[in-house]
Amino acid sequence: MKIIRYPVTQNSSLRAWSAADEYILKELAAMDTSGKTLAICNDRFGYLGTHLSHLNPYTVISYKSQEASLLMNLQNNDVKPDPDKFLNSLEPVPERIDTGLMIVPKSLSLFQFYLQYLHRSLADDGILICGFMTRHFTPQILSLAADYFEHVEQSLAWKKSRILKLKGKKEAPVYEAVESIPFLFRDGIEQEIRQYPGVFSSGNIDYATQFLLENLVIEEDEKTILDLGSGNGVIARAIQLQKAGAEIHLIDDFILAVESSRLNLDPDKAHFHWSDSVEDIGNVEFDLVVSNPPFHFEHEVNSEVTVDLFREVAGKLKPGGRFLCVANKHLGYQPYLKKFFTSCIISSENNKYIVYESKKGS
Ligand SMILES: C[S@@+](CC[C@H](N)C(=O)[O-])C[C@H]1O[C@@H](n2cnc3c(N)ncnc32)[C@H](O)[C@@H]1O
Repeated sequence: MKIIRYPVTQNSSLRAWSAADEYILKELAAMDTSGKTLAICNDRFGYLGTHLSHLNPYTVISYKSQEASLLMNLQNNDVKPDPDKFLNSLEPVPERIDTGLMIVPKSLSLFQFYLQYLHRSLADDGILICGFMTRHFTPQILSLAADYFEHVEQSLAWKKSRILKLKGKKEAPVYEAVESIPFLFRDGIEQEIRQYPGVFSSGNIDYATQFLLENLVIEEDEKTILDLGSGNGVIARAIQLQKAGAEIHLIDDFILAVESSRLNLDPDKAHFHWSDSVEDIGNVEFDLVVSNPPFHFEHEVNSEVTVDLFREVAGKLKPGGRFLCVANKHLGYQPYLKKFFTSCIISSENNKYIVYESKKGS
């Protein structure tokens, strides 16, 4: 089978799967899977879902780009997708499963969220197989697994990867998925910002985001505003506080981010988009787009997605519209922004972060 990544990348070191995925397939090939019900979590580019499509597994989709990647790979390999088998990570599997598969995510709290998710639907005699690259191992992976299962068996390393086989369900521990982060907005309003596991900047509001918010001044005529890569929605919330009448849109690739932001804004007063592309936001053009854009994706750093988003923003701004974007100084985004926008200046900076103000000519 030929598996490729979506979005496509020019970086030949970035792959659509790792040895941990191959190890899971190898393990599964040695098991009797006939008539068994299967669910797959955190299959980022659809490698497992495509290879195991003959078993008609449930696939838990957390990222819109993951769904696009899986659909593309199924199609490229002449497999018809079964939409009833695609679940988002807040929808429980609608039946008992015999086997759960998971690539261990970078965020341990997201690992626990997926453990909780799969454990809930797993048959008492079921098995959960988790794969990871040995260099990403931390002992907490074992201790979290042991909170849910009597038997936690770690394999030998194979091609620098390992798998865990988890059996013997314990009673699930008491679990609260949503964390609360106290935050004081510039106008003196204090609010608990709530977020699901794996959403950007657990434990505190990111310092780059804070720097952006300290310097965010919305102009009088800016009424249609987008928070791009909105995470828990803290930027959109600050905009709402500064400009109550604005039409605010939020977009994020990660379902748990979008659902977090719904907890932090009045859901009737904002438009939430679960998507990885600004172009998916219907027929709206923006006066202002504000962003702390993504550049980390699990264990990878990849500016291609960021630069693509810049290009998309330029296409979605009204003439005269502005794009405010904060970034670590070392990322050096200005040449890219200058390519897509009529002008790009540094509107604020400190020793670590820069806020770029890019404008589209009127
Ligand atoms: C640096 S975080 C910023 C989150 C939030 N705005 C904040 O300041 O806390 C970037 C966000 O972009 C999201 N993201 C990644 N790729 C994306 C894409 N192609 N389209 C939209 N959002 C994306 C990530 O899920 C993440 O929530």
